[in-house]
Amino acid sequence: MSDTAAQLQPHPVRNSVFLRACRNESVPHTPVWFMRQAGRSLPEYRRVREGIPMLESCMKPELVKEITLQPVRRHKVDAAILFSDIVVPLKAIGLDVDIKPGIGPVIANPIRTKEDLRQLRTLEPDDVPYISQAVTMLVEELGATPLIGFAGAPFTVASYLIEGGPSRTYERTKAMMFGEPELWSHLLERLADITATFLRIQIEAGASAIQVFDSWAGTLAPRDYRQSVMPASQTIFRSVAQYDVPRIHFGVGSGELLGPMGEAGADVVGVDWRVPLDEAARRVPPHTALQGNLDPALLFAPTHVLHQEADGVLNAAHAAGDRGHIFNLGHGVPPTVDPDVLTRLVAHVHETSTRSAT
Ligand code: CP3
Repeated sequence: MSDTAAQLQPHPVRNSVFLRACRNESVPHTPVWFMRQAGRSLPEYRRVREGIPMLESCMKPELVKEITLQPVRRHKVDAAILFSDIVVPLKAIGLDVDIKPGIGPVIANPIRTKEDLRQLRTLEPDDVPYISQAVTMLVEELGATPLIGFAGAPFTVASYLIEGGPSRTYERTKAMMFGEPELWSHLLERLADITATFLRIQIEAGASAIQVFDSWAGTLAPRDYRQSVMPASQTIFRSVAQYDVPRIHFGVGSGELLGPMGEAGADVVGVDWRVPLDEAARRVPPHTALQGNLDPALLFAPTHVLHQEADGVLNAAHAAGDRGHIFNLGHGVPPTVDPDVLTRLVAHVHETSTRSAT
């Protein structure tokens, strides 16, 4: 085959069902992947992670590759997501951060004053060589299956940095946001810069989509999100726009924010289980694809109920009109779920969506 002919062949990843759906193109079946598809629900994950702390495991490219591939092999999902964490770039620039099992990220010296901001220098590619190495190896191994890169959005990462760990009320975070707007915007700008670099590193190594997790933005009123958070998130989406990789924007409890989260520059908005996809479609900008949104708790319900509810998600996506749909849960896979339930769910969604497309 001549070089020109090779170039004319459709690129297998670019033409994958997942990326086609992200671009609102027609698909043979609805693509499926799960947030937190790699993790404690899989016995093979628990085996390879034994004795290795979470953040340490994110810095071992061979291990990252293996863990990222595990759910693809087992469940036949339509995309892989890089095994990493939203606090990896913070660790990489020298912050004292740890992920405590059953708790989440814990920050030894929280950021609460102007002086504390000095802890946040810019991220350089050399700080995270293991990320580009893992992505390069994965892209090679995954063949036609796309790899999703990701990062935490400035608000969600700031909440860990300011509170010092997970929070239910975000009191200190909001106190800074409302009470010290200048310090707040400097913090978010620095985080936007770090996040944008972290995403660019993944894209340049071969990730073919990215997801920005603003998991905890749902705690904000739309006015406050627009005024105090959206500009920093917008900076991130703008800074990866030139790569032509779909940008997914996700938050939990974000029903009232779906509009601005789409406007921030997302090609795909991830929806949690609280808002049906046809309603979500009315809230996001035109041409925005949707991802979601089965309640993860349904994974513990009898199979016929689970599959019926999955069909409900597919029907709502159909009612959402002429836009792409990526099937996912409304949030991450619970660690205690039976992985066979997930494997059967992927097969069910593939089968049902194929039938309804003909
Ligand atoms: O498969 C995937 O989805 C990719 C891997 C991934 C992890 N963390 C691995 C992980 C992704 C996308 C994340 C992002 C992340 N990390 C978010 C945003 C997504 C979300 O859940 O809303 C947040 C808020 C974090 C912070 C974080 N890291 C928490 C709250 C926890 C849970 C702590 C616990 O033990 O319950 C982590 C740890 C973590 N990140 C685990 C995994 C697989 C579990 C650690 C383990 O297996 O020992």
